[in-house]
Amino acid sequence: MPEKYFTYKSLDDLRRDCKLYGVDITFDEKLEAVARPVKIGDRTIGNAIGIHPMEGCDGTLDGKPGDLTFRRWERFGQGGAKLIWGEATAIVPDALANPRQLLLNERNMPDFELMLKKTRAAHRQVYDRDDDLMVGLQLTHSGRWSYQKPIIAYHHPQVDSVTYLDKKNGIKIPTDYPLVTDGDLERTEDMFVEAVERVYRLGFDFVDVKQCHTYLLNELLGAHTREGKYGGSFENRTRFIRNILGKIHNELGDKLIIASRINAYDGIPYEKDPSTGLGKPLPFSVPYPYSFGVDRHNPLKEELSEPLQLVGLLHDHGVKMINVSMGSPYYNMHIGRPFEHAPIDGYVPPEHPLSGIDRHFRITGAIQQAFPDLVVVGTGYSWLRHFLINAGESNIRRKRVTIVATGRGAIAYPDYAHDALTLGKLKSSNVCIAVSHCTNLMRSKHNDLGQFPAGCVPRDPLYAEIFKESTGKKQSASKPQAREGS
Ligand SMILES: Cc1cc2nc3c(=O)[nH]c(=O)nc-3n(C[C@H](O)[C@H](O)[C@H](O)COP(=O)(O)O)c2cc1C
Repeated sequence: MPEKYFTYKSLDDLRRDCKLYGVDITFDEKLEAVARPVKIGDRTIGNAIGIHPMEGCDGTLDGKPGDLTFRRWERFGQGGAKLIWGEATAIVPDALANPRQLLLNERNMPDFELMLKKTRAAHRQVYDRDDDLMVGLQLTHSGRWSYQKPIIAYHHPQVDSVTYLDKKNGIKIPTDYPLVTDGDLERTEDMFVEAVERVYRLGFDFVDVKQCHTYLLNELLGAHTREGKYGGSFENRTRFIRNILGKIHNELGDKLIIASRINAYDGIPYEKDPSTGLGKPLPFSVPYPYSFGVDRHNPLKEELSEPLQLVGLLHDHGVKMINVSMGSPYYNMHIGRPFEHAPIDGYVPPEHPLSGIDRHFRITGAIQQAFPDLVVVGTGYSWLRHFLINAGESNIRRKRVTIVATGRGAIAYPDYAHDALTLGKLKSSNVCIAVSHCTNLMRSKHNDLGQFPAGCVPRDPLYAEIFKESTGKKQSASKPQAREGS
């Protein structure tokens, strides 16, 4: 594998490699489709550029947005993207992925309200209006990745082998670890509905009921081997989300736009090959009875009949926007976020990043083509650097996606939408270079708060300083060992 993957000086260079690797990634120079407004229900999103949920692990220890959270959201507000998909926010303390994740309880409401207000004000200051800005919040239960105590829906031998009860002491989930009970799941449904109701009262434009990145709701979708009413059949595995959506509808009718970020393909766990550094799949046998969206006869590949069925079901239950994602940040990070350099606990990607991007575009395209009227938000763009917007333009024109959004790309370059729309291109000096330092920060737990804040180290001097501090190995051993995310 090469030392450096991204060597492209022009779109033609990039097109040449797309051909070489046999991937269907196309580019359009002239930016028109990304500038067009998008209709959603009776609202309009001012352009087709978005910002994905990007947790900054910078909340206070009681789950309120902190100074850096405010800073990030305001920068997003100023950035010109008309879709801001607010980050993972836990519905209850047990659901937190790390000690500085946001927590939406009654006590924290005024702080969330202020953050939303400031984000809108920042947007209005630059663009004179915010009626066409859609800001949402992602609600999460971290499930097996909850940092205080894993909550698992079923035993997945390979994933259990990388799930820690106590990471510091290397203690993994035992084979007899109890599963979350049906009763607890029913109560968790109600907690979700309460949190959705808070999102509505806060005045967000939409809520995301998170079903991606192998957190609790995503794990339930793949709970083929679980017994009882939340496992086995597709109907049972989607019971949790169907119940939540039904209850939300009873409480709120159509007053709040409901969205969901889904995993359309979980993939399987990878580990680093000690001799080559390359990621390799953990040994598996077929038929593979675990996870969601995987081909049971070859889980290294997607099988989309159930993901398509899920999107149809969500659509029928009133979900108006789907954000398509895939993979797990914990055990197959190259799938969700194609990268140049691996995070500290990662591996050299076992495929060219272009192949990973192709997987994102192909799967998202299949969903959009099956549901042409649904607002589908696409992922997997950031590695393409300043050419990402040209790929997005082409995907929208080809009806493979409705809104193009970036995660790492947006923390590197919060005003990328503004530049795309005013300059007709992105500045190569501002883009994400996918060296995974944001993830490294997320995985750094050795400060007084038990969690370093995550942001863009190469592009944002504030985080370059934080990164220096984190790599200076300042220890604070008394604090809880948090998990990674999101
Ligand atoms: C530091 C960091 C924080 C993230 N936080 C979230 C989150 O809160 N919710 C979520 O669904 N995805 C989260 N993600 C995943 C991104 O939204 C996105 O799916 C991923 O980075 C791939 O998109 P990109 O190539 O544009 O970065 C996070 C990723 C990183 C690196």
